[in-house]
Amino acid sequence: MNILVTGATGFLGKKLSQDLVNEGHTLFLLARNEQKASQLLQSFADKDKSKIHMVMGDVSKPGLGLTQQDLQRVQHKIDAVYHLAAYLSFDPAHKSQTFMVNVDGTKNTLLFAEGIGASRFIYVSTAYTVGKEVAGKEELYNPKRSFVNHYEESKCLAEHLVVSHSDKMEVVIVRPSIIIGDSRTGEADTNFGLYGLLKGLCVLKRRASRTAGWQNQKYRIRLDVNVQTNLVPVDYVTSVLVAALTHAQNKTIYHASNPAPPTQELVIECIKEVLDFPNLQAIPYESGESLSEEEKVFHASMGIFKEYFTRTLHFPTDNTRDLLRKVNRSELEMNKALLTSIIRGYQKQPVLT
Ligand SMILES: NC(=O)c1ccc[n+]([C@@H]2O[C@H](COP(=O)([O-])OP(=O)(O)OC[C@H]3O[C@@H](n4cnc5c(N)ncnc54)[C@H](OP(=O)(O)O)[C@@H]3O)[C@@H](O)[C@H]2O)c1
Repeated sequence: MNILVTGATGFLGKKLSQDLVNEGHTLFLLARNEQKASQLLQSFADKDKSKIHMVMGDVSKPGLGLTQQDLQRVQHKIDAVYHLAAYLSFDPAHKSQTFMVNVDGTKNTLLFAEGIGASRFIYVSTAYTVGKEVAGKEELYNPKRSFVNHYEESKCLAEHLVVSHSDKMEVVIVRPSIIIGDSRTGEADTNFGLYGLLKGLCVLKRRASRTAGWQNQKYRIRLDVNVQTNLVPVDYVTSVLVAALTHAQNKTIYHASNPAPPTQELVIECIKEVLDFPNLQAIPYESGESLSEEEKVFHASMGIFKEYFTRTLHFPTDNTRDLLRKVNRSELEMNKALLTSIIRGYQKQPVLT
C-alpha cells in the first residue's frame, strides 16, 4: 500500500515507519524540518530507500502547507493515512499551540486525506482522553468532562473530529497509554512520560552526589506504591497500528495499553536498579514529611505529573485483543525483567552522558 504518515520524525513515528516499510509498504513521510527529514531518510536501509518519499509540510497549515508539486506526488495515490503529529506538552502556557497542532492539525489532516482520496485514516490518540475519570472504555468520550490538562482535552476533541469524517473514509482510533522503549533494545528517543521522570531522577542523583556521605541518606519521591502505571513498549504500539491497517473496523477505538500494568512500587524498584540509586525511597503522596532542598527541586519539576502518580486508570482492551488475534498476535505481557531491560535502554541515550 501507499501510506502517508504524519509525525514520522517523532518517537513513535520513526518506529512505525520502519515497521511499515518492513511490511513492504511505500511511505510518504510528512516532516516540517529539513534536517530531521534527511536524518529520517538516512535511518532506512539502502534497499528500502526507494520506498521512502519525504514530503515537507506542517499540519497546522491548511492543505498541510504542501507545495503544488508535492500535492501532485500524493494526489489519488494514498491508500491510508496514519496521523501521529502532535504537540505533547502538559504545560498550561502551551495551550494555544497544543490546540493548534492537535485539534486544528487533525482537522487539516482529515480534510487533506479526503482531498487526496485516501480510503482509511488511522488516528493515534491517547488513552488519557478519559480525563479525570478512572474507568476507560474503547468508546468515544463526552468532551464536556474534566481533563487533567489541555493535551488530554485536545486529543479528545480531535477524536470527535476523526469520527465526524467516517462517512467520507474509514476511520480508526488507536489510543496508546504511556509509551516506553522498544521491548528488544530499550531504545526510546523521547523525554516524555517515564523518560521525564528518569531525567528528573538522574538530576536528583547528580545533585545529591555532590554531598559527602550521600549514599547513606534516603532520597524521597512522593508516589503511591499501589497505583498502577500503564506503560507500554513502543514496538507493541506499532504492532497494534500495523494490524489496524488491514484488520481494524471502521469507527472503532483500540486501546494500545498494558492489560496488566506494573505498580509504581515495581517501576521504582526497576529504576533504582538501573540508575544504581538504591537509596531512593517512595513515600506516600500525602505524607506530611518535609523534603530537603534537592527533593523539593525534583518534586517541583514533577508537579504536572501528580494526577498520573496518584490514580490507577483502567483501560479495557477487548477490541485490541480481537484485532491482534486476527493477525495471530497476543496481548502484551510485561514482567519485571522486561520492564528493567527496557528502562536500561535509557542509559544508552545521549541525554545521560
Ligand atoms: N509518547 C507517549 O507516551 C504517547 C502516549 C500516548 C499517545 N501518544 C501519541 O502518539 C503520537 C506520537 O507521539 P510521540 O511520542 O512520537 O511524540 P513526538 O516524539 O513528540 O513526535 C511528535 C511528532 O509530531 C510532529 N509535529 C509536531 N507538530 C507538527 C506540525 N505542526 N506539523 C507537522 N508535524 C508536527 C513532530 O515533528 P518534529 O520532529 O519536527 O518536532 C514529531 O514528528 C502523538 O499523537 C501522541 O499524542 C504518545
